[in-house]
Amino acid sequence: RLARARAAIDEHARLVPDFPSPGVEFKDLTPVLADADGLAAVVDALAHACAGAELVAGIDARGFLLGGAVARQLGTGLVAVRKGGKLPPPVIGVDYQLEYGTARLEIPADGIDLAGRRVAVIDDVLATGGTVVAATRLLEQAGARVDTIAVIMELAGFPGRAMISAGAGPGVRVHN
Ligand code: PRP
Ligand code: MG
Repeated sequence: RLARARAAIDEHARLVPDFPSPGVEFKDLTPVLADADGLAAVVDALAHACAGAELVAGIDARGFLLGGAVARQLGTGLVAVRKGGKLPPPVIGVDYQLEYGTARLEIPADGIDLAGRRVAVIDDVLATGGTVVAATRLLEQAGARVDTIAVIMELAGFPGRAMISAGAGPGVRVHN
């Protein structure tokens, strides 16, 4: 599964030189998801990594694309972890640091039974790890048990995994 997903990424990802800054090569996954086999390959790999999850959480915005597909494949429900200010009250939220400034993620404070449930967090890309760690903390604050974080791709040169072990605890399995 992983090999098939990697092959699809190698075949379809759009490589953009010097973005977002000089010397950095950006890998745009849009064409991977636009390809039927590419989408199937990455969703299969993510779903396999999340086997046993009782609920899938997809992170705003690109994690939504994958989270819904993975939830459907696993037969679970889906929680959208939204960027701040999008949801009607009451919400619970978490603020976290970006390279420049801060960001906020939110979920509804009621209507979703998260207590004790095994949740898998899905996003497209892991860079600093700030986003998935914030989402994990938020879900755990709501009583969930996050045991898996799964992403399509981990960016080289970023401390994503170290950030996860420091910020989300050692029990979380990371897949990419
Ligand atoms: C991007 C990406 C991840 C996050 C990874 O999201 O989709 O969610 O950054 O970075 P980190 O590991 O350093 O936190 P972004 O909010 O830029 O855009 P999006 O709304 O298109 O998902
Ligand atoms: Mg994102």
